[in-house]
Amino acid sequence: MVMNGVDVNFRGVISCPVPRDSVRSRMVHINFFRRIMYGLLAFLLFLTICLWNESKKGYSVSFRLDSKGFQLPRTLENLSRRLRTKPVNITAMVGPQRESEAPRPRPKVDKFSYKVWDKDSSSKNLPARLQKVRKNYLHMNKYNVSFEGTRQVEKLSTSGLLCQLANRVKVTMIQGTDFPFNTSEWEKSLPPKNIRESFGRLGTCAVVSSAGSLKASYLGTEIDNHDAVLRFNGAPTKKYEEHVGKKTTFRLVNSQLVTTDKNFFDDSLYKNGILIMWDPSPYHSEIPEWYKKPDYNFFHNYKLYRKLNPNQPFYILNPKMPWELWDILQENSPEDIQPNPPSSGMIGIVIMMNFCDTVDIYEFLPSKRKTDICHYYQQFFDSACTMGAYHPLLFEKNMVKHLNQGTDEDIYLKGKVTVPGLQGVRC
Ligand SMILES: *[C@@H]1O[C@H](CO)[C@@H](O)[C@H](O)[C@H]1NC(C)=O
Ligand SMILES: *[C@@H]1O[C@H](CO)[C@@H](O)[C@H](O)[C@H]1NC(C)=O
Ligand SMILES: *[C@@H]1O[C@H](CO)[C@@H](O)[C@H](O)[C@H]1NC(C)=O
Ligand SMILES: *[C@@H]1O[C@H](CO)[C@@H](O)[C@H](O)[C@H]1NC(C)=O
Repeated sequence: MVMNGVDVNFRGVISCPVPRDSVRSRMVHINFFRRIMYGLLAFLLFLTICLWNESKKGYSVSFRLDSKGFQLPRTLENLSRRLRTKPVNITAMVGPQRESEAPRPRPKVDKFSYKVWDKDSSSKNLPARLQKVRKNYLHMNKYNVSFEGTRQVEKLSTSGLLCQLANRVKVTMIQGTDFPFNTSEWEKSLPPKNIRESFGRLGTCAVVSSAGSLKASYLGTEIDNHDAVLRFNGAPTKKYEEHVGKKTTFRLVNSQLVTTDKNFFDDSLYKNGILIMWDPSPYHSEIPEWYKKPDYNFFHNYKLYRKLNPNQPFYILNPKMPWELWDILQENSPEDIQPNPPSSGMIGIVIMMNFCDTVDIYEFLPSKRKTDICHYYQQFFDSACTMGAYHPLLFEKNMVKHLNQGTDEDIYLKGKVTVPGLQGVRC
């Protein structure tokens, strides 16, 4: 009965009469199942292509969130690249790419589309824990931030943003003429020269983050080939030269380290290059107000270090600079960013944009080596180091991605972003 039913249906499809003897009937059934198998195979092939395409998308999402182990093995990576070069119109099969993935005009053009930091990342992309941390900081408002600027309704163009950074963020160091540093005691401690007299013209500069993803990057030679290299806090070069280079021209340190870390006086890694220290002030406070209420009371240690190392240039960043930068970050973010100063990383990037013609930034936007290991020189895991908890890191990364003049391939393979210097910016 059932067999007959199938038989009838099948015959209906091929619409040709088949003799009703049992041999013929069995052959017809075999043909039928063969066709079903072919159909199934074709469907499976289609499904594989669909899934492959979907997994590429899914990978970009899990990249933004903190998933570990997303890295494709090298062989798979090569395979997927080879597949992408095949003349198969996948768009026609599974529909167009999302708009955010559409290629944008760039000075350099990517051959393939690499999944890297999305410049429109929102706090909704954060893991629940970090979303909560951000809300707590918004509520706490430790630095009495009262943002009075206006949000950009339309996203500023890259050149518009560069213009804002050039005109509004003043990279200056505390000088002996800044009250209340205008005493003879401070005059002895502060470096006699303006910081810009401490170095010559800087063409290319490298900003080297301390990210765990610098491990096994083999970027050392490339980094050292820059005219100047900026590093952060206690990031060492010794034992890691192959991956982070050995040149240190500038080192940006925070006041917490200067105030509380005994190694600051003892460790030789701090003795190379020009030191710049920064300490968060209350939002847009003047220097005298900050002087009475620094975030960390670093003054004693600063003077002591200067006395012990009188020949090493060691500057104190004007505390207004981080908040001038913060305002631009807030203006260009659709949501409330953490009311805490920008990260050392972001501050260092803008300092170098003021000193150099072009700035290559390594592993500020994560490469394919992205990891929850916070620093390349420590075994400490926390996704907050990439995504931000205290600092508005997510929004800083959106801005840096927006400013990138290099390719997504460079970000994916090297964690490298290239931004222009601000001295040549005409507004
Ligand atoms: C993948 O391709 C790169 C160059 O594109 C090559 O150096 C590497 O050996 C390849 N890896 C494998 C496993 O085929
Ligand atoms: C692929 O197919 C889509 C949708 O049918 C079409 O818009 C596009 O031009 C095709 N691309 C190529 C390279 O044929
Ligand atoms: C913020 O303002 C409150 C009240 O005006 C004040 O008590 C507090 O000290 C201020 N905090 C900072 C960091 O200036
Ligand atoms: C420091 O600057 C303040 C304000 O400009 C001024 O009143 C004061 O006399 C200066 N102190 C010294 C020692 O020059």
